[in-house]
Formats: sequence, C-alpha cells, structure tokens
Amino acid sequence: MMAVGGRLVPCMCVGLLGLLCWVWVSFASFPEAQLPLEPLDAGDRGAFQPQSALSDMEFASISSYRGPGNNDFRSNKELPILLWWSAGLFPHFPGDTERIDCATSSCLVTSNRKVQLYKRTASIIFYGTDFRAYEAPLPRLRHQTWALFHEESPMNNYILSHGPGIRLFNYTATFRRGSDYPLTLQWLPSLDYLLQPVAVSLEKKNQWRREGLAPVLYMQSHCDVPSDRDRYVKELMKYIEVDSYGKCLNNKPLPEHLEDTATATGEDAHFMSFVARYKFHLALENGLCPDYMTEKLWRPMHQGCVPVYRGSFVVKDWMPNDHSVIVIDDFASPKDLASFLKSLDENDDEYIKYLEFKKPSQITNTRLLEALNTREWGVNDMSKPNYLNGFECYVCDQENARLAVERAYRKAPKQNPAPQPKMANNSHMGCPLPKPGYGDIEDVPADDGWLQIWPQDYWQSLDQAEGLESLIRHNESDPSLLWQHIQNIAVRRARGKH
Ligand SMILES: *[C@@H]1O[C@H](CO)[C@@H](O)[C@H](O)[C@H]1NC(C)=O
Ligand SMILES: *[C@@H]1O[C@H](CO)[C@@H](O)[C@H](O)[C@H]1NC(C)=O
Ligand SMILES: *[C@@H]1O[C@H](CO)[C@@H](O)[C@H](O)[C@H]1NC(C)=O
Repeated sequence: MMAVGGRLVPCMCVGLLGLLCWVWVSFASFPEAQLPLEPLDAGDRGAFQPQSALSDMEFASISSYRGPGNNDFRSNKELPILLWWSAGLFPHFPGDTERIDCATSSCLVTSNRKVQLYKRTASIIFYGTDFRAYEAPLPRLRHQTWALFHEESPMNNYILSHGPGIRLFNYTATFRRGSDYPLTLQWLPSLDYLLQPVAVSLEKKNQWRREGLAPVLYMQSHCDVPSDRDRYVKELMKYIEVDSYGKCLNNKPLPEHLEDTATATGEDAHFMSFVARYKFHLALENGLCPDYMTEKLWRPMHQGCVPVYRGSFVVKDWMPNDHSVIVIDDFASPKDLASFLKSLDENDDEYIKYLEFKKPSQITNTRLLEALNTREWGVNDMSKPNYLNGFECYVCDQENARLAVERAYRKAPKQNPAPQPKMANNSHMGCPLPKPGYGDIEDVPADDGWLQIWPQDYWQSLDQAEGLESLIRHNESDPSLLWQHIQNIAVRRARGKH
C-alpha cells in the first residue's frame, strides 16, 4: 500500500475550472521503490544540443514540497524537463517553470515551447482536445516521449481513436481504464454523491405524473453529435411521453429562471430540483466509447432518478449493483424500451428496486468501490490533488525511471536489461466509428447532417494519424507537410502499394 504525503499550495488551475484552487504538489510515496538518481549524462546523440537550457527562464519561488519517498536532491538544472504543449491547460501559474517533486523523483515543468528540442526535455505532454497533427512538435526526437491527457469526449478528437494516432503516445491519461493513468470515474465525485438520499420521493413523483409531467426527461442542447442520440430519442418519443426542454427535440419551454443553468455542467439548486421530479432521465453521451461516462449518468443517480443510458458499452462494470441503470442497448428497439419504462412507471415496487443502491449495503460492486478508494486525485475535493498534476507527476516518475534504466544499460549492457519501449494502443482510447443512433446507415438520407459530418470526421482523422506517422518516420521538421504526406499515402494506396 502506498503512504500518502504532501502539501497543498495555492495554484491557478488554468483551463479546467478557471478557478483559483489548491494543488497538491507532492504525492503518494512509495518508500520501497527508490531510484538510483544521479545527474544525467550525455548520451542521446540524436538530440539537439542547444545553448544554455533554461538559463533565461524564471524559476518559480515555490521550489520543493517533496514527499518522504522522494530522494531526488538534484538541482533544478539537472532535472529532466516536461513540456506542456497545450499551454492552456498548464496546471501552474502561466509563464512559470516549476520544479515538481513527485512520489519518487523530481522534474521541471514548463509551457515554454523554446525547450522543445532541448536534450533535457524528456517528455512533451499534450491535451487531447487541442492535439493537431499539423501542429505537432517535429522533428520528433528519439529521446523524447509523448504523453497524452484526454479526459474529454471522444468526439473532440478522433485522431486519438485510431491505432496510428494513439501509438504516437508513450503515456496516457484518458477515461479508459486501460490507460496508464485512468480518469474513468472523473465525473463521480465520491461514494457519498451516489448515496445522497433520493431528492423527490416516489410518492411525489407519482403526484407529478398525475399533474401531467412525463415519465421521461430529455434535456440536450448539443444536437449534432457523433452518437446521433436525437435519432434514437425521436423514435422513442413515438411510444412514450418524453419532456424535452433543451434545444434538441424541444417540446416544452424551460422555465425562464432556469434558462441559463440548463446547459451548465454545474449543479444549480433550482435546476436540480426541477429535473429531480422525473422518474427517468435519458442519459445519452455525445460520443460512444468504452468507459466514457459523464455527469449525464451520475447526476440522475445522485438525485435518485433512473438513468436510461447509452455511452460506454461496459457501463455495468461501474454500476453500484446490477439494477441501477437501464441500458438502452439491452432493448431490441425504442418501442421495447418504451414498454419497459411504462411498466416500471406503473409498478412502484419494480421502479424502486433501481434506487436500492442508496443503501450502502446495496453497493456491491467491488470494482467501483476499489477505484474510488484508491484513486489519488479528487473531484471538487480540495484535500486531494487534481488529476492534471497527478498525471504530470506520473510522467515525471516514469521518465526518471526510464532514464535510470537507460543509463544503467549504457554503462553495463551485459549486467542490465535493455530499456523496453513503451507506447499506447487502442485499449487506451480506441473509440469506434460513429453509427446512426437508430436504424441502419444505408437508410440515412444522403443530405443528413450527422452523416455528412461524423463518419467523415472519423476517417479523415485516420488519414491525419497516418500522415503524422509518416512525417515522424521521415524525420520531417515541418508539420505543415502533413497534407503532402497524406496525399502521398493516398496515391500509393491507389496504386496498390504501401
Ligand atoms: C515512444 O513512442 C514512440 C512512438 O510510438 C516509439 O517509437 C518510442 O520507442 C517510444 N519511446 C519509449 C521510450 O518507449
Ligand atoms: C496495449 O497496451 C497494454 C498496456 O498499456 C498492454 O497490456 C496490451 O497488451 C496492449 N494490447 C495490444 C493489443 O498490444
Ligand atoms: C532529424 O532531423 C534533424 C534536423 O531537422 C537532424 O538534426 C537529425 O540528425 C535528424 N535525425 C535523424 C535520425 O536523421
């Protein structure tokens, strides 16, 4: 087990929350796993040797909050550098270069792209949503690893869902459990959040039903999305009453005082009590991918409404027990789903079973409990580090460990194991080709908005991934040659060569 130690320092979290928040600078420590740390030696001949590394950059005044497991006493000048390529997400004061002391080792972190080709720059950290093949840092140096942070929807960047795209990265933090630093339950703040008492009793919900509220709520204003959810919901609406307040498939006006709150992911009290009156919430993610689960799923559960869910195909793996969610794809058709929802609407005993998880003894899923217990980062929890700093430290420790293995091997190749390359694969992201939310793709009319965007976006991002792979293979320094490389690949393919 790991011992947790560290200290909180105030820090601007740029990007994610846009708020002043607290950041934990040192981490869980692993006293048994200490690395032989020595100054870096000159080795990698492929790398550039630019002038004085960070000489003209400011070092942050906060220098050290090391955990007890970190025996890395090198000076700042000797530490490997981690470069945040997406400066908007840099989890430190903008413009700073900071020393971070992590579980087992230390690094310098910066968002100053001047260090891109420095020999000491060991890793470049990317934010998935901002990652663009035509802006990638090239040439890719052999001694540098790439790290990917992508907690957002698969729809934001399908390049990461293709083998050639994800394999560019050596370390990942994504919503998938198979990533190196998984963020799977990022939208679930805590177990207590699930255990929160039901906000509106079934008795009251039944009363609202008698007063004309539909059994099912839909609230969506982001309409043309890869999961094509509206096509499904539209069909479902033929068989069961759905109150739809958002811009998509709207059939009811939202009360004026809620207009600004409905699209927010925050939890406005008026908005929360408004939606809590519904028995069922349609909870369809904007993109479909294993382990991609958002507040659309957890919020109704928090309130004691039953989510009718489509998003992660393996959502049941994370549910508190085996009857707390209704999974759309368990039903052969929207019509079948509608009859099931109607039967629950008329049968209180059956409906209430979906809320049994509100009793702690009914939360039986050990995978869920363990993941919540062991994750080192917190959600809206100032006493825990955030996952940006957590991932940065993960990369720092991995890099120092890799550098130590490489040094040992260079010194005594016979006595030491050769360094093994590490890279991501489709189990770190790998979201499937978007398909129609309802029906077959052959039946979708050619001028359909969804059809014109998403399948193409998916395949074009594969071209871009392959193009970037080719740029790297050819040691190009100009990423704007991407289009040329994509074209060359297409021409070779058309001629039947590879
Ligand atoms: C990092 O990934 C790249 C691209 O997949 C690979 O060529 C390289 O060997 C990896 N580096 C390490 C240190 O594993
Ligand atoms: C993908 O990477 C994981 C490690 O992150 C590894 O365990 C798994 O075997 C890899 N899968 C394939 C198909 O290479
Ligand atoms: C890659 O290109 C850079 C210049 O852009 C050069 O310095 C370096 O030696 C090249 N690396 C290889 C392996 O050819």
